Amino acid sequence: MAARGKVLIVDDDESMRIGCAQTLEAGGFAVTLAANGEEALEKASRESFDAALLDLRMPGLPGLEVLRLLKRDSPNLMVIVITGYATIESAVEAIQRGAYNYLPKPFTPEALVAIVRKAAATGRRTLEDACVRRELERQMLSNEIIGRSEAMSKVLRLIQKAAPTDSTVLITGETGSGKEVVARAIHRLSPRSAKAFVTVDCGTLVETLFETELFGHVKGAFSGAVESTTGKIELADGGTLFLDEMANIGIQMQARLLRVVQEREISRVGSAQKRKVDVRILSATNRDLPQAVRDGSFREDLFYRLNVIHVPVPPLRDRIEDIPELVAHYVAKLAAQRRRPVPGVSEEAMRFLKRHEWPGNVRELINALEYAVVTAEGDSIGLGDLPYSAEASSHLNLLEGSPAEDGHLARIEQSEILRVLQQFGGNRTKAAEFLGINRKTLREKIRKYDLKPRD
Ligand SMILES: Nc1ncnc2c1ncn2[C@@H]1O[C@H](COP(=O)(O)OP(=O)(O)OP(=O)(O)O)[C@@H](O)[C@H]1O
Ligand SMILES: [Mg+2]
Repeated sequence: MAARGKVLIVDDDESMRIGCAQTLEAGGFAVTLAANGEEALEKASRESFDAALLDLRMPGLPGLEVLRLLKRDSPNLMVIVITGYATIESAVEAIQRGAYNYLPKPFTPEALVAIVRKAAATGRRTLEDACVRRELERQMLSNEIIGRSEAMSKVLRLIQKAAPTDSTVLITGETGSGKEVVARAIHRLSPRSAKAFVTVDCGTLVETLFETELFGHVKGAFSGAVESTTGKIELADGGTLFLDEMANIGIQMQARLLRVVQEREISRVGSAQKRKVDVRILSATNRDLPQAVRDGSFREDLFYRLNVIHVPVPPLRDRIEDIPELVAHYVAKLAAQRRRPVPGVSEEAMRFLKRHEWPGNVRELINALEYAVVTAEGDSIGLGDLPYSAEASSHLNLLEGSPAEDGHLARIEQSEILRVLQQFGGNRTKAAEFLGINRKTLREKIRKYDLKPRD
């Protein structure tokens, strides 16, 4: 017979235990017995129950403590506390601490079955609601963040765990790997989603501008401050503050930021008045922060404050299983934007895309696909439509890091850089981004090879 639900009966009084068990079994429930709190916790850890009957007065672990631990480990368990008339205050306290209801002694078998039946039904509903919510969240996430590889699934699970909390999250990963995508997803799945998501790009601003950008300033704070302005931290009040490229913050600003993170309190530049802010802080970096801490360019205390929950986003080359889905998604999207029919992708081209190192990760992939969608002439993207000459591409990963040896590889590197520079009309920023290397590296390579792109 399918039981109406599983009930854990926790009572030190054996006759009570057996009496309740017989009544509930007759009422169609499956019953498990525990003679004290420890036994109850042990049984609840091995098996899940819909409801528990808990005597508050037992020797050993106090009933309220048992309640706390049961609810901590099984939040959906509906606990009904059993009390004598003399202990009605503790029943009230139990309900404040999360018990579902209480049943005063003595009670009739009918009252017992009725209350347990209601508790089990409520429990199941909450559980179903929670499952539905998790499933919706999962769908929402997978619509925006493509990738079912094990590596990406891990990231998605972390996002789901971190989102509902107010915890500070540090997102790390190589350039173009999707750190901002992750940050936005955390905000959207959080209770703050109706409020602002404010990005501060810490990589580009000089220190003084950065300070007013973050904190705002009052009128007359410095020459040119004709109006007072609201800083980004205040704009994010109630919502989420996303510190992008956070490792680039100078050491002086780090001290000010530390205060914000610790006290959630700011003052505008030029004002001594403190204001409380309620922000959740997410930050991202592609740099090795522990290394920055070791070499003294990043404050250790700030690092620990920002790194409460760490979400590492894996580089694309570690999740090549995701490439076909990413390609399908972006080819369709890019073609639609250009009002073109969606081209297919040849097997050869796909093989290449899966083999490429992707130093610029998903962003580089999107750029390559955009090039292919624009230039491909047939109804399918072939290897020749990709912006990598087949030979150079397999060595592209040499561009960053290890200096290419003179000779064959160096020639490939030179011609590839030259080709990409020409493709972007000599625009070094775009070329560097496309190659997935930073501008400085590109500048050094151009100098080293004495390259002169024709514009
Ligand atoms: N899993 C993914 N699914 C779909 N699109 C993605 C995914 N990851 C990244 N993208 C896309 O790739 C591009 C780069 O992502 P994003 O800006 O989040 O990277 P980033 O790690 O913040 O890069 P950077 O270090 O340069 O700031 C964006 O256009 C983003 O929409
Ligand atoms: Mg980014």
